[in-house]
Amino acid sequence: MTQAQSPYDVLTRTGPGTPGGDLLRRYWQPAALAEELPVGGAPVPIKLLGEELVLFRDELGQPGLIGLHCAHRGADLSYGRLEDGGLRCIYHGWLYDMNGRCLEQPGEPAGSTFHERIHQTAYPCLERAGIVFAYLGPGDPPQLPDYYFISGPEECTFAHKYFHDCNYLQSNEGNIDPSHLSYLHHFMKEDDTRLAPSAFSAPEGAGISSNTLFGRDQSPRLEVEETDYGVRIFSVRTASPSETYLRVTNFIYPNGFGIPTQGGWHVPIDDTHHWKFQIYRGSSPLDLPRMKRDMLQTMTPDYHHLRSRANRYLQNRDEMKVRSIAGLGPVFQNHDNWATESPGSMQNRSQEHVAYTDRAIIKAREVLLRAIRQVQAGNDPPHVIRNPEQKRMSHLVSLQEVIPNSADWRDHWKTHMVPDTFVLA
Ligand code: FES
Ligand SMILES: [Fe+2]
Repeated sequence: MTQAQSPYDVLTRTGPGTPGGDLLRRYWQPAALAEELPVGGAPVPIKLLGEELVLFRDELGQPGLIGLHCAHRGADLSYGRLEDGGLRCIYHGWLYDMNGRCLEQPGEPAGSTFHERIHQTAYPCLERAGIVFAYLGPGDPPQLPDYYFISGPEECTFAHKYFHDCNYLQSNEGNIDPSHLSYLHHFMKEDDTRLAPSAFSAPEGAGISSNTLFGRDQSPRLEVEETDYGVRIFSVRTASPSETYLRVTNFIYPNGFGIPTQGGWHVPIDDTHHWKFQIYRGSSPLDLPRMKRDMLQTMTPDYHHLRSRANRYLQNRDEMKVRSIAGLGPVFQNHDNWATESPGSMQNRSQEHVAYTDRAIIKAREVLLRAIRQVQAGNDPPHVIRNPEQKRMSHLVSLQEVIPNSADWRDHWKTHMVPDTFVLA
């Protein structure tokens, strides 16, 4: 990082050759939902970390990710033909395989070896839990860790993505900000079934809903603990004179999060737009068609929120009087989208005033800056796992539970470590 760059520039700029981009490129990143890339379907143009790429499946169904613009004279390969073991440009027929090798150049003279000297950008891909991941970094890709939200039976997993009209970091900072659950997401009536059902389910050990618990104690005690994978976050609320409402959530290097029953990543498209990839993980098979239908009530089929900056998020001031703090409807994603886009496409952090509530955010920024320096020094950053035996993540636990005051909330997460790393919360 140069002297002219603020720490916030370093954290938020993610294009090729930037310090923050170099860090993000050391880990597998979600590139697309598998449903966007059906077997036999068209190649998909995507932008990832500022790079224009095309995602496709070869004739064996394996995903490949190569540069969008043909190495010949730049035509868009997403219009290309999928045939002969690769993707063929429809301008002059150059054929690329998923490793970026140019296999054929039909217009060149017979016997030409020019194609052997052409190398199209190409990145390795793998598929897990309904997501196609890509590795845009140098050298061999690391292991993709067995996070609880991408492990386990397919029918228990629902992956989705949401467009965000802002830098990736400010939205992931929303995921590691436990106090806003008592405010932004709060509903005034306990029995209003038109509101978010999940807000009215009771956490483990509680006879009352999380909405009531969040409202009962608006200023949780917050503690953070640095871990090998990032930061473990404890938010501790008074549930009753004898009970504590404990939530354990997680920041995961370098742009991930783990919260009860869910987890995911905020992945830069470029520095002022990103996708939130979110994976729900049930303890039993999920009703996937219903979840998809519910999602489409508030989203376009191409994963954009219907409530957006352009329509002032359809805020309803009557709703604010009697039903919800924010007047932004029942869906938490809509609240969070407003909260993290409204600072602007790139939040001006030199003007913020971080407080006690921001302890996890401050810690995450600190560990990210340290990780960036490690990459700059030529080392692997934290949580880059090379040994397959170390990819089990049973100590990455997210939970919400009402526990007796006599229980030790700092150690309670250990009782939730289970062999398949999944925690019902
Ligand atoms: S521009 Fe692609 S083959 Fe010529
Ligand atoms: Fe939120």
